Amino acid sequence: METTASYNDKVVRQFTIMTVVWGIVGMLVGVLIAAQLLWPALNFELPWLTYSRLRPLHTNAVIFAFGGSALFATSYYVVQRTCGVRLLSDKAAAFTFWGWQAVILGAVVTLPLGFTQSKEYAELIWPLDILIAAVWVTYAVVFFGTIVKRKVKHIYVANWFYGAFILTVAVLHIVNSLAIPTSLTQSYPIYSGAVDAMVQWWYGHNAVGFFLTAGFLGMMYYFVPKQAGRPIYSYRLSVVHFWALISTYMWAGPHHLHWTALPEWVQSVGMVFSLILLAPSWGGMINGIMTLSGAWHKLRDDPIIRFLIVSLSFYGMATFEGPMMSIRTVNALSHYTDWTIGHVHSGALGWVAFITIGAIYMLVPRLFNREQMYSIPLINVHFWVSTIGVVLYIASMWIAGVMQGLMWRAVNDDGTLTYSFIESVAATYPYYAVRLVGGILFFAGMLIMAYNVWRTIRPVEPVKAATPSTASA
Ligand code: HEM
Ligand code: HEM
Repeated sequence: METTASYNDKVVRQFTIMTVVWGIVGMLVGVLIAAQLLWPALNFELPWLTYSRLRPLHTNAVIFAFGGSALFATSYYVVQRTCGVRLLSDKAAAFTFWGWQAVILGAVVTLPLGFTQSKEYAELIWPLDILIAAVWVTYAVVFFGTIVKRKVKHIYVANWFYGAFILTVAVLHIVNSLAIPTSLTQSYPIYSGAVDAMVQWWYGHNAVGFFLTAGFLGMMYYFVPKQAGRPIYSYRLSVVHFWALISTYMWAGPHHLHWTALPEWVQSVGMVFSLILLAPSWGGMINGIMTLSGAWHKLRDDPIIRFLIVSLSFYGMATFEGPMMSIRTVNALSHYTDWTIGHVHSGALGWVAFITIGAIYMLVPRLFNREQMYSIPLINVHFWVSTIGVVLYIASMWIAGVMQGLMWRAVNDDGTLTYSFIESVAATYPYYAVRLVGGILFFAGMLIMAYNVWRTIRPVEPVKAATPSTASA
């Protein structure tokens, strides 16, 4: 096994710091758009501050910049430790870092300017799509190349999840982005009509399944046992979990297109596979949580393990709710409402952000040769602030969503609508205010983390030696 000194931790450090930076940027934009829904005047009548342009900036920043950087950082860290070798190529790894930052900066400039392909989570214009493909293929070469030259015979399960995430995202991105450019900023997809919609949501759903789930499960399978100081609850279950999850996710995309022009049998296939998906998802959740069995006291004593285990509880909640929402009759109520937004953020904040935060608190002292984080009490404060924040966010959106759905379908005896649309908007305002408070709390937690990280990694000031004049005084 190689020593820590011979691992490439530079690129891990770079991605780790950028995870914190992009987390703050992405969530600040989230707070701003949450505020705009309450006070539309907050766009100051500037085109680049309009909701329609900032919303994709938020989703791209939190998913690809914050989540993506966290996945690069942890996968590079984990693959080296579990294979006992340095990354395949330092230069290629550096290219993935700088290339990915360039993609993000491209997004930060183009999205507010209104350049978009108008496909959700695939908005970026075609030149940026090509850069993404180049970075991603290099990422795959570095990751799988490292696995090929490993010194440990066994490939640890975390690498299976990271590997599936890297391969699938490459295929999804390239297939969904196929387009014919007409100028530097404009292009037309090669698909049309319902086929375009189907390809887009095959991409969109598997972006959730592989980017926001499989990758973070890789993180879970390494960091939860490590922080708990115990082996994963069931290795056999982790292997079953892996194959069941990746073979089911692929087919569930049509649940995003219920009641559309998509053939009804395709919608039903999506619904059935979504319902089946509950089982492997919960298998993974149980495997993670039960790793702590026999050491439950750690939940009381260790705020980092609390972030990790609570993230798994949110994962369980989101993957129970998702299958329910995929039932066509339930979707008839939930679609277009804030229920979807609540579901998204129970996964995105509760699962993705929480597990990332836990992993960052574990990584930072190890990467910067410190014994531990600067302040454990501040981690505790972060945990409670963000837990209250996420609960306020998702509970308000659930109530708002069900209320909207019910108001829109209410009819009078004579068949006319009971409520006008604007009445449902007015009724939603108090919930938007609660969501904003939740978002601000979550964002404040990120600032606390940034301060804690900065205090941990800043160079330690050398103790001043007594100068001759003071010594003689
Ligand atoms: C402070 C934290 C956050 C706040 C205040 C926030 C706020 C918002 C708001 C206001 C929207 C638009 C909702 C609408 O159009 O009705 C939104 C959408 C979205 N956010 Fe966040 N967000 C936060 C964190 C995150 C994180 C960490 C992620 C992902 C890791 C995320 C992923 C998304 C996604 C995927 C959507 C689009 C949902 C859809 O189209 O159904 N958000 N967010
Ligand atoms: C078993 C697992 C899951 C299933 C079956 C599922 C199912 C669903 C369904 C039915 C919708 C609503 C589609 C619509 O009406 O348009 C949805 C939306 C969404 N879900 Fe899930 N979900 C699951 C887990 C998750 C997790 C863990 C996350 C996040 C980490 C997540 C993120 C999202 C996002 C971002 C959307 C909004 C997509 C959009 O922009 O319209 N889901 N999901």
